[in-house]
Amino acid sequence: MSIRDVLVTGGAGYIGSHLVDALIGRGYRVTVLDNLEPQVHRSGTWPSYANPKATYVRGDVRDRGTFEPLVLASQAVVHFGAAVGVGQSMYQIDRYVDVNTRGTALLLDILVNATHHVEKVIVASSIGVYGEGAYTCEAHGMVAPSIRPEAQLAARDWEQHCPVCHRHVRSVPTPEHKALYRDNIYSMTKYHQEEMVLLIGKTYGIPAVAPRFFNVYGPRQSLSNPYAGVAAIWLSRLLNGRQPVVFEDGGQLRDFVSIHDVVDCLVLMLEKPGADYLPVNIGSGQTVTILDIARLLARLLGSSIEPLVTGTGRKFDIRHNTADITRARETLGFAPRVPLEEGFAELIEWAKTTPDAAVDFFDKALGELQEKGLLVKS
Ligand SMILES: NC(=O)c1ccc[n+]([C@@H]2O[C@H](COP(=O)([O-])OP(=O)(O)OC[C@H]3O[C@@H](n4cnc5c(N)ncnc54)[C@H](O)[C@@H]3O)[C@@H](O)[C@H]2O)c1
Ligand SMILES: [Zn+2]
Repeated sequence: MSIRDVLVTGGAGYIGSHLVDALIGRGYRVTVLDNLEPQVHRSGTWPSYANPKATYVRGDVRDRGTFEPLVLASQAVVHFGAAVGVGQSMYQIDRYVDVNTRGTALLLDILVNATHHVEKVIVASSIGVYGEGAYTCEAHGMVAPSIRPEAQLAARDWEQHCPVCHRHVRSVPTPEHKALYRDNIYSMTKYHQEEMVLLIGKTYGIPAVAPRFFNVYGPRQSLSNPYAGVAAIWLSRLLNGRQPVVFEDGGQLRDFVSIHDVVDCLVLMLEKPGADYLPVNIGSGQTVTILDIARLLARLLGSSIEPLVTGTGRKFDIRHNTADITRARETLGFAPRVPLEEGFAELIEWAKTTPDAAVDFFDKALGELQEKGLLVKS
């Protein structure tokens, strides 16, 4: 049987909704399971961009009574429904583990114990599973340092050191086989989701793929969720006439990938077998500093507001992590097409027409980090 019916959990969210549109456009029948998490959907209703050709079910991925019949009626499950936020996961531990890890456990329990027709499972993993990115030492070649100790951050020694000789090391794109270190609860749950889905997939012969998203940006990104992506947080600050807050010295390297490229890659994962049973980086393959991103946003907005570079660190932050996308290219023929400036211009055009989306809750989130002692004093 080939895939006709696709279940997308979290399909009312940012990445999921774009995928829903692409799948409908390609002739799939799509059902969305989403509980309209209040932190993401402040109105408590289906978003205005919800695709009229998809079927929407309001429910929780931890509720078997709702989840099971939807899984059994599908030939593919894209599992994106999750609690999303690194800092927040460090004090809402029960909620993050429950939604992300147990929700995925329930999906797998259904697949193993009921008669189903699922031919593909795609589970959202994250750059977070790596912890720090890959580095090379002049003397020791490829090395995988772990998170920087608090004393190092307090001394404002931002760059990573070689775990063997302690010299400063240089960031290089991270391949999927790099050692994994989770530095926060959210990333731990993403790791568990990925490992569980790939293991059960392999064991029972259900093709499964775990896309590891790098920094995804684009329209429909939550601008008012201060726990989500950094570009959205800064854009929301700028739209409110405030300075984007950049931790450390702003030299952190990242890979920002357009939602459109992400969706292209997800469709390839659904339709081609090349990446089955593998984790796969989804990035643009381009490297930028976060300070460049903060400045680019201001420039594209025509704003003269300069980012506020704090010169202080947060305990759970990594220094650099950029994507090696060789695996996605070779196994799926993935080729990112959206240039950074074009993609960010699109994000900004959308944000300008979504005033309601840009309520700035950043100070509240920062206050919570401070209260929990997650900011490093230097
Ligand atoms: N945006 C990124 O850059 C990024 C990076 C790495 C990984 N991811 C992963 O990709 C997936 C989608 O992320 P997104 O950016 O679209 O986030 P999002 O918050 O916009 O979407 C997540 C959706 O899941 C729903 N949801 C939350 N808890 C649920 C539950 N208990 N039951 C059912 N639905 C629930 C929310 O209502 C929301 O619509 C997530 O699994 C996330 O961990 C995203
Ligand atoms: Zn060394």
